[in-house]
Amino acid sequence: MCGIVGYIGEKQAAAVIYECLGYLDYRGYDSAGIATVENEKLHLKKDAGRLHDIEKKMSISKLPGTMGMGHTRWATHGVPNMVNAHPHTDSKNEFCLVHNGVIENFRKLKEEVESAGITPVSDTDSELIVHVIQNEYSKCKNAEEAVRRTIAKLQGSFALVIMHISERKLFLARNGSPLVIGFGNGEMFCASDVPALLHHTKRFTYLEENDFAVLTKEGIRIENKGKQVERKPVEIKWTAEMARKEGYKHFTLKEINEQPEALRETCEQDLGGVVAFAKKFRRIHIVACGTSYHAGLTFKYLVQKHAKIPCEVTVASEYSYAEIVDKDELILAISQSGETADTLSAVRRAKGKGMKILALTNVVGSSLNREADMAFYTHAGPEISVVATKTFTSQVAALAMLAFGLSGEKKMEEEVRKAPEFVKKILEKQGEMEKLAEKLMGKEDFFFIGRALAYPTAMEGALKLKEITYLHAEAYPAGELKHGPLSLLEKGVPIIAVAPSGETASKMIGNIGECKARSATILALSDDDEVLAEADIPIKMPPVPEPLVPIVYVVPLQLLAYHLAVLMKLDPDKPRNLAKSVTVE
Ligand code: G6P
Repeated sequence: MCGIVGYIGEKQAAAVIYECLGYLDYRGYDSAGIATVENEKLHLKKDAGRLHDIEKKMSISKLPGTMGMGHTRWATHGVPNMVNAHPHTDSKNEFCLVHNGVIENFRKLKEEVESAGITPVSDTDSELIVHVIQNEYSKCKNAEEAVRRTIAKLQGSFALVIMHISERKLFLARNGSPLVIGFGNGEMFCASDVPALLHHTKRFTYLEENDFAVLTKEGIRIENKGKQVERKPVEIKWTAEMARKEGYKHFTLKEINEQPEALRETCEQDLGGVVAFAKKFRRIHIVACGTSYHAGLTFKYLVQKHAKIPCEVTVASEYSYAEIVDKDELILAISQSGETADTLSAVRRAKGKGMKILALTNVVGSSLNREADMAFYTHAGPEISVVATKTFTSQVAALAMLAFGLSGEKKMEEEVRKAPEFVKKILEKQGEMEKLAEKLMGKEDFFFIGRALAYPTAMEGALKLKEITYLHAEAYPAGELKHGPLSLLEKGVPIIAVAPSGETASKMIGNIGECKARSATILALSDDDEVLAEADIPIKMPPVPEPLVPIVYVVPLQLLAYHLAVLMKLDPDKPRNLAKSVTVE
C-alpha cells in the first residue's frame, strides 16, 4: 500500500524523506515523489518506477527546503505514471498533498472541481482533494480552515498530509489509513509506518480515527471531532538495525532466520490477563487475513481439542456475511500490522453490535490494538518483507499459549516454549531446501496436503510459494484430494505432504498412495519412517510436540519458497502486485 513520509525541522527535508521512504519500500509501490517548500515556493518531483531510479533520473532527494512530504504510490485509481504519482498540487501550486487510501465519493468531488473551472490533470481520486482545498481557500483565505472543510467532505479511507506554501505547518488527517507521528528534538515526522522513522526517533504516537492534526517543528496539535486531544508519545523498543538487512541477501531470508529469537521473545510473555479475559466467553470467533488467517486456523484446532471451546475462523472480508451477534462470543482479531482494513472493518462492525474484541498484533499502538478491549502481542520485531514468516510462527506460538492457558495445561505451555530450539535446529536445513528448490525448478503446479494442524501449515506453505514465486500452489486437507484435486494430478506434479507422526500419519500414508498411483512426485516432511519410505523426496524432520507442528514444519516450506524465488531471479522481498499492509477493503 502507499507509503507516506512528512518532515518539518531544520534539516533538508527531501534528503530525510528520501531516506525514510526507502524504509517503506516493503509496502509495495509503483511510483514515487517528493515535494518541499522553500521561501514560499513549492518544489516537486515525481515519476513512475523505483525510488533509486527516480533519484538517478531527477535527484528528488536534492529538492530545497526544510519542510516537505514524500510518497510511494501503489496504484488504485489510474495507472502508475508520472502524472498519477503523488504529491499532487492545485492549479496555483500553493497547496500540495499526499494521500493513502481510497476516496469513495470521488465522482461528486470531481463534479465540484470541474464546476469551479478546474480540469484535473491526473486520473487519481487524490488530486481532487487538493483542488477542493484550493477552492475552499479561495473562499475563506485560511489554509487550516480550507483543509478542515475539505476533510469534512471526504468519504472513504484516507491518511493525508497537506502543506501550503505560506505556512510552516503540515496538516494531517486520518480516517481508515494509518499515520504515525515521530517526535524529534526540534523536528517532527509523520509516516505510514514506524520502520520509516526508526533511525530518527523511537518516540511515536498514532493518529486515531477522525483525527485532524497540525504538525510544526515544535510538536503536534491534535483534534478529534472538533475537540483538542492529548496523545503522549510511546517509546518503541525496535531499533533501526532491526529494519536493515544486516548482511542477508533479502529481508525474507533474514526474517526466516530471526524466528528462534522472535519465538523466544513471544513465548516469554505472561498471558494471565488475556486468558482471564478470554475465559469469560463461551465461543471464540477469529477474524484475520492472509497468513494471520492461517495462524487463526491453528488456534481453532488447539482450543477446540484442548480447551473444548468452540471456535470459528472467518476471513475478515467475509465476516459481515457470517456474523452472529452473541455477547457470549469473543472476537479474536489477528493481524501482524494491526492495520489491515478488512480486519479493522470486521472488528468495528462487531464492536458496533456490542461484541468484545481481543487483538493479537505485532505492532504496539496499532489501530487494531486501540479498537480492542484487550490486546496481546507477537514480539517478532519489525517484519519488512511483504511475506509474513517470523510473524506467522510467533502468532502460532502466542495463540498456542493462549489455548493452553484456556485449557489449563501448564505442561503444554512449556512445550510451546521449546519452539525456538526446534526452529533453530530446523534452520540447519537451509542447504537441503536450496538443493530441493533446484530440483523443482521448472515445475509449475504444486499441491500441499496435510491433516489437522498440518493442514493450515500446508496452506501457509502454499501461500508462501505463490506469493513469491508466482507459481500455482494450492493446499488441500489430504482427505479432500479424492473429491476433486486428484483429477489434476499427472506424472511429476509435486505433492508436498506435511505429515508428522501421530494420529494423522496412517491416513496420510493412504493419501500419499493415492497421489503416487497418479505418478505424482511426493515430497514428504515427516519424522515417521513409514511416511518417509513412501516419498520420492523424503525430508526428515525431528519429532516435535503436537502444538509445534505448524511452527516447525512451516520453516522448510518458507525456505523452499524463498530459494525457488531466488533461483527464478525474483525479488522475494517485494512480490509483484502485493503489499505488506493492505489498508483498503
Ligand atoms: C497482506 C500481506 C500478508 C499478510 C496479510 C494480512 O496480504 O502481504 O503477508 O498476511 O496482508 O496482514 P496482517 O497485517 O493483517 O497480518
